[in-house]
Amino acid sequence: MRDIGFKALSFFQKNKKTDFQEMNKLLKEQSGIVNFFEKEDDFIQFKQNIEMSQSMICEPNIEYGDFQTNRKLSLSITEYLSSKNLNPQVLIEPACGKGSFILSAIQTFTSLQQVFGIEIQKSYLWELKFELLEYFLKNPTANKPEIHLFHCNIFVFDFQQIKNQINGRKLLIIGNPPWVTNSTLSILNSKNLPTKTNFKQAKGIEAITGKGNFDIGEYISLKMLDLFANEIGNFAFLIKNSVIKNIIYEQKRNKYPISNIEKYAINAKKEFGAAVDASLFVCKFNSTAEFTATEFDFYTSKPHLTLGWVNNKFASDIEKYKKYQEFDGVCPFEWRQGIKHDCAKVMELERRDGHFVNALNEEFELEEDLIYGILKSSDLKGDRINIPRKYTIVTQQKIGQPTEDILERLPKTKAYLYRHKEYFLRRKSSIYNGKPMFSIFGVGDYSFKPYKVAISGLYKQTKFTLVEPNGTVLLLDDTCYFIGFENFADAKAAQLLLNKPETQAFIKSFMFMDAKRAITKDLLMRIDLDKISQVTSQTSPPANLLQS
Ligand SMILES: C[S@@+](CC[C@H](N)C(=O)[O-])C[C@H]1O[C@@H](n2cnc3c(N)ncnc32)[C@H](O)[C@@H]1O
Repeated sequence: MRDIGFKALSFFQKNKKTDFQEMNKLLKEQSGIVNFFEKEDDFIQFKQNIEMSQSMICEPNIEYGDFQTNRKLSLSITEYLSSKNLNPQVLIEPACGKGSFILSAIQTFTSLQQVFGIEIQKSYLWELKFELLEYFLKNPTANKPEIHLFHCNIFVFDFQQIKNQINGRKLLIIGNPPWVTNSTLSILNSKNLPTKTNFKQAKGIEAITGKGNFDIGEYISLKMLDLFANEIGNFAFLIKNSVIKNIIYEQKRNKYPISNIEKYAINAKKEFGAAVDASLFVCKFNSTAEFTATEFDFYTSKPHLTLGWVNNKFASDIEKYKKYQEFDGVCPFEWRQGIKHDCAKVMELERRDGHFVNALNEEFELEEDLIYGILKSSDLKGDRINIPRKYTIVTQQKIGQPTEDILERLPKTKAYLYRHKEYFLRRKSSIYNGKPMFSIFGVGDYSFKPYKVAISGLYKQTKFTLVEPNGTVLLLDDTCYFIGFENFADAKAAQLLLNKPETQAFIKSFMFMDAKRAITKDLLMRIDLDKISQVTSQTSPPANLLQS
């Protein structure tokens, strides 16, 4: 929270008799801001507030993905851009907040003629207006562009009105859009969303299970590129690394005329106190479309690697990827996700003294018929495993199967499930709609293969674990991926191939460590085990290792 600066305050005190129109005129002369007070009401309220020394600033709101950029960072970004001879004449900050970038840009780029800022939180615009006024009062000879600040929701803002004014002048779109995802907003019941939420065109089940999930910052970045990539100019946005990855990924489809794509990694913990990986994404408009981004350290300019499209494939480290690209194909086995029940309190069981105990700490007996040991991501740390910590009730052998018949024969299990039916009814995911009461997902013939090679989808480690039966088949939960085998030898051979140093290096060359889910089915399906087996057969001794 900031107070009005001393210079600005004394300016208002000196001019306190001035009327609304006159004051706006005076303020335009002093600060470049057009319609400093949009409405006469605002002006009257402001005068009262000044008199009462009230603060007009509210606390930031989580639904706005509010992480204001500190001035040191915004200034080092504008100075870096200036060192690249950008010299913008028109600047747009689409979610400008308190205007750190606008203030730094005005200080840095003497070429600026017009500045446009849009922000939903009115108090932030006030803060920015006073800062601008203070700046120009202190620096009367500084270059003073015309400044338009809009108190508006970016999702309904008419950017065409700005586009119409550019007229071939050099544009810079700069900023740091909201850091919040549509799924967080839906938990908050927030309406701070674009009307077209499925803009990534995720289909059916993908939209339900997460592929339709997107970051508001990503939506705004793509909107800016859609609207302005044909102008002469540049783009510089502080965004999450996952958003940058998605922009480059989608570039194959979007083909925006952008080039010189660079990603400067910042320390988001230090700069924003946020535990995310974020970078400054920079590119040049109006050029032949490029499909890769070079990554640097923002503070040292040390180059890291290049990510993006190479030979129609997407890689996180193109140089490394090229060494192993022949392994990139289609896995001969289908990778599956484990069992999903969304009912951990009731369905995650432990065995204790001949009884079962659930997460509600209730003790009870169940028939053994539907009980299976189940492994979670945290169980997949070692080379092999055959002892489960947890058990679950497998109510179906395949998706959608009725659950009533089977339960008729198992009175204890039936009574237990019905006693807790509220937990099943409360499951939020729409995949359970219209399905039998105790339905589970991620189940099929493949779930019951005795040997499996599995990996966690939650952790970033790339080693694969061999899962062996122990009396009964062991299952995996939906945080894990696996391929199933009928016998030990085949499973062990697959595990050996997957854990080879060459395979591991290949995986790391196209896996995105900073993604929320780094290991995905798409990634695993790209590992062509047949090819790896052929290429590495001279160096690997599978026959004798298979006996281990
Ligand atoms: C990550 S902050 C960054 C602010 C500023 N760009 C900076 O760099 O300091 C995102 C800003 O977007 C604003 N915002 C969130 N939703 C918005 C919307 N729908 N329309 C306009 N601004 C929005 C927030 O209030 C917040 O000021």
